[in-house]
Amino acid sequence: MRKVQFTETVLRDANQSLMATRLPYADYAKILPVMDKAGYYSVECWGGATFDSCLRYLKEDPWERLRNIRKNMPNTRLQMLLRGQNLLGYKHYHDDVVEKFVELSIRNGIDIIRIFDALNDFRNLGTALDATKKYATARTVASGCISYTQSPVHTVDKYVEMCKELVKMGFDTLCLKDMAGTMSPYEAEHLIKGIKDAVGDVPVILHTHCTTGMAYMTLTKAIESGVDVIDTATSCFSNGTSQAATETMFYALQQYGIETDLNEKVINQVNDFFKPVKQKYIDSGLINPKSMATDSQALVYKVPGGMLSNMIANLKDMNAMDRFDEALVEIPAVRKDLGYPPLVTPLSQMVGNQAVTNVLVGERYKNISNEVKNYFRGEYGIAPAPVDKALEEKILGEGGKPVDCRIEDSKRTGEDFRKAKEALGDLAETEEDVMSYICFPAQAEQFLKDRKAEREKRVTYTIVEA
Ligand code: CO
Repeated sequence: MRKVQFTETVLRDANQSLMATRLPYADYAKILPVMDKAGYYSVECWGGATFDSCLRYLKEDPWERLRNIRKNMPNTRLQMLLRGQNLLGYKHYHDDVVEKFVELSIRNGIDIIRIFDALNDFRNLGTALDATKKYATARTVASGCISYTQSPVHTVDKYVEMCKELVKMGFDTLCLKDMAGTMSPYEAEHLIKGIKDAVGDVPVILHTHCTTGMAYMTLTKAIESGVDVIDTATSCFSNGTSQAATETMFYALQQYGIETDLNEKVINQVNDFFKPVKQKYIDSGLINPKSMATDSQALVYKVPGGMLSNMIANLKDMNAMDRFDEALVEIPAVRKDLGYPPLVTPLSQMVGNQAVTNVLVGERYKNISNEVKNYFRGEYGIAPAPVDKALEEKILGEGGKPVDCRIEDSKRTGEDFRKAKEALGDLAETEEDVMSYICFPAQAEQFLKDRKAEREKRVTYTIVEA
């Protein structure tokens, strides 16, 4: 019997997409033992913005959160999202830092590491992949992930080639990540068929968002075309900018006669638990009704929803909304000049801001942002397609070539840990504390200071009581 399995995203991507990753651990601790019996392929619960949000807003230790989830869900594979050499941020970390981060993630309870690069420059996945293999337990899975985007150079053949490359590198599974929710059912059919034909037994996972309203159709076509795992969110945390609903896809698959491993009673129990949680955040205003609706703008304008609202805000700031149509035409032109990067953070902001500048200045690339200059210098990796030669020459000088910043930036120095430890002094109690500081220095330091103060307060209290 054919089987399609489910990755439940309520703890990470649904939380991130609908409520800016502000769901505290305490709000879902009680349901974890129940979720452990649902029969998910995995539960995505860590990485992405959860780490930063824990330290910055929720005053939680992200590592402790992970250990607690692990303890309460011993039978379920726990999954995280990792931005390759950038870990959870936007800068390149040294190889020894990347390796240590992966080691600690696995040690604290992660089973599946989904590794991607914003530009699909796979050199940025190698260190994280090797570390995953090095520290793997019997249940560790290294998942190679492709940032999905649409452009004249992003053909089915190109994606198939990328998948073959990821398999060759040693990834155990493949994931197509459609963060803007713009993959159509037609594209899903051709992509999944093409990829499955090329990679045979390697499991293929589809990650998409409901943002534009296409996700259910796209997932259905992907399932008919042979996809192995789909990402969904428990229904009260589904739709809008989040994933398609777990229970809905489960019922649809039952009629196909496709096995899912899901326990119907349990997945409904999970949804019942999260309903009042969601209501609490609608009432508090943290969940914006806009994020729960369908927004077809991305299909009309061919730019992701978040990027469009960013551009509108920029134009309004500059009292230039009358230039909206021109800026909209300029976006694909800038993107072409940059060699068609996927429009994800930070590239979406880079392309959008340069397009607005080009229009408002009245001359293309008269003013070039530092980000665009750094992009041409090679700081973000290799562009998916050749960049505009004239623009490259303008930025790099005649005959100038981008340098391979990755090699220089990622070298092992061993210095990062020593410096971080030194900076933290007695605030750092574990390797995990030091790693939090390396990833998010200001947030981690504040968190560790607060933790220390809290503990000292408690000690004093105990003495007085005694
Ligand atoms: Co996502």
